[in-house]
Amino acid sequence: MAVSGAAAAALAMAVLLFLGIIGVARGQLQVGFYSDSCPDAEDTVTAAVQDAANNDPTILPALLRLQFHDCFVKGCDASVLIRSASNDAEVDNSKNQGLRGQDVVDAAKAQLEDQCPGVVSCADIIALAARDAVALTGGPTFDVPTGRRDGLTSNLRDADVLPDAADSINVLRSSFAAAGLNDRDLVLLTAAHTVGTTACFFVKDRLYSFPLPGGKAGSDPSIPAAFVAELKARCPPGDFNTRLPLDRGSESDFDDSILRNIRSGLAVIASDAALANSNATRALVDAYLGPAAGSFERDFAAAMVRMGSIGAITGDDDGEIRDVCSAFNTN
Ligand code: HEM
Repeated sequence: MAVSGAAAAALAMAVLLFLGIIGVARGQLQVGFYSDSCPDAEDTVTAAVQDAANNDPTILPALLRLQFHDCFVKGCDASVLIRSASNDAEVDNSKNQGLRGQDVVDAAKAQLEDQCPGVVSCADIIALAARDAVALTGGPTFDVPTGRRDGLTSNLRDADVLPDAADSINVLRSSFAAAGLNDRDLVLLTAAHTVGTTACFFVKDRLYSFPLPGGKAGSDPSIPAAFVAELKARCPPGDFNTRLPLDRGSESDFDDSILRNIRSGLAVIASDAALANSNATRALVDAYLGPAAGSFERDFAAAMVRMGSIGAITGDDDGEIRDVCSAFNTN
């Protein structure tokens, strides 16, 4: 179809306007956003995370997961922190079951309200705490752009979009694409499972009710037999709550061993194993263990920054800076 000169110019203008709007929205997130308005903001968050980790190191993976669950649902706006008396906020969705770390964000926020009231958003505290959690488990250190504002809604059903451990590789890819992230981001960010644990709840279906030919159910035949036996020993039938490392043999250290486990069929949850099931994602796993080995940590950090900018609210017109992270402001 031929496009007239005027139509082409109008189209070009519309594209530029659109890109401009995106540019403004993204452009306002910046490293050191609080350097004048609350100079100790980042150090205060780091100290709160460190304090919490001194008492309970397992809080670090929890904080990393918290940012994922914030950003994938209506953007990185701290909507996951809202608590509701009627149990109908995002956090009440079963996909957010077992989410932890909110108290660490609350503690950092309380200190920041003493230092510089009404300045630092809860969404930024989540992003900074996740960044610190990566560093404190031995992963890369990196700058996190800040300047997010807190959102004004938090609805239980919004969290339905969170990916599920039982999702196929294509559903996982679509879910990341819907958030503006590509296959490489999917592989890199899933590698966050290099730290932390899962409840047997998310493993049991792979062990006991995987659909087999002839209408039978049993163990997923793609899992090596010795590993099935190991997982069954840790998660006997009916045990939903015992926790086991997501990254077999290396749950406390941020490293690339999760990618090795995925490549060798030793992924614990099905969504991790699924990365080995598509050519595109398997090639990326292989690359980070081979030719691109040296760039895994740097690329992971960059992917965290991309995830951390999903739907961020910036500027002065939308959102708010909450007084407390668990509730919307009342005035
Ligand atoms: C690709 C889609 C993903 C799925 C289906 C998924 C699923 C899960 C599941 C089922 C658990 C165990 C939860 C529990 O039993 O408490 C878990 C834990 C975890 N997830 Fe993911 N996840 C995904 C992506 C991510 C991303 C993108 C990140 C961060 C960048 C992340 C970070 C974590 C961490 C650190 C843990 C351990 C939490 C802890 O030990 O408390 N996950 N994930």
